[in-house]
Amino acid sequence: MTAAVSIDPPRSKPRLTPKAALEAAAKFWWGAAFIGQLLFLYYILAFYFPSTLTGNFKLWALNTSLFKGYVPGDTPGNLAFGAHVLLAGVVTFAGTLQLVPQIRARAPAVHRWIGRAFLVTAIGGSLAGLYMTWARLPQGLLGEIAISIDAAMIFVFGGLAWRTALTRDFASHRRWALRAFLAANAVWFMRVGFAPVGILFKVIHAPHGWMSTFYQVWSFGSYLLPLAILELYFRAKERGGDGARYAMAGGLSILTLLMSVGIVGTWFGFFAPILDKL
Ligand code: HEM
Repeated sequence: MTAAVSIDPPRSKPRLTPKAALEAAAKFWWGAAFIGQLLFLYYILAFYFPSTLTGNFKLWALNTSLFKGYVPGDTPGNLAFGAHVLLAGVVTFAGTLQLVPQIRARAPAVHRWIGRAFLVTAIGGSLAGLYMTWARLPQGLLGEIAISIDAAMIFVFGGLAWRTALTRDFASHRRWALRAFLAANAVWFMRVGFAPVGILFKVIHAPHGWMSTFYQVWSFGSYLLPLAILELYFRAKERGGDGARYAMAGGLSILTLLMSVGIVGTWFGFFAPILDKL
């Protein structure tokens, strides 16, 4: 009797394919953005909702980095600010929920309603923001132009996301919805971008003026950079070669790491100290 000899088929080494690498990088970004959005939402709900809904507008002054929060006698301006921060809470809540793929897949009707809520509140909040920007703030012309272009992008991208959903062109809808999400989150990227740069400037003992130059550049960069990266991601995903996909996956992962530093820095350096004062 001869012993049975088992011959295992040669095992191929598990390899991270370019497609899998890109998917992993996108998931990494998604996870970090989700946590960052939740922290921003928590800050808005804990700080602005109680003070605004009870009419205790003076509490806004606890945020000392505001150009203009509560201004005695400026009723339209105070109401615009109050409306803006309440709508900001809904925009951020709705935007965070839209990041959950299970809702889109399992409850499309809920996804549609959240999408409508996101769009209506993003447009309403931007209109209040435009009023504050042009009627109220001493923010500097460049900053005012930058945030107004962002508002225009929210209107255009949001409108196109809505239209493509109505015509059931879901591939285009996804693209426009993501662009609208990034444009509406410029204010979040603005804050998140400041933390790593602030740390860097401290480490290298950068002159004071560098921060205000960075502020002006980042007023535009806070939406142009994420939107440009999104376009590169679309290209790499749809028609990129292996090299382009690996490069995109690597680049996106590095940027997500930086964004994560920004999320942690914004929490400990900005949101948490304000909440501690309550
Ligand atoms: C749609 C998404 C937006 C969200 C979620 C949002 C969120 C916020 C929040 C939370 C604040 C309070 C400041 C803070 O605590 O850090 C704020 C302030 C402000 N936002 Fe927005 N915002 C959005 C869009 C816009 C747009 C498009 C504009 C202008 C066109 C704008 C103009 C302003 C202005 C002028 C202030 C007062 C800043 C100050 O006095 O320092 N926002 N926003």
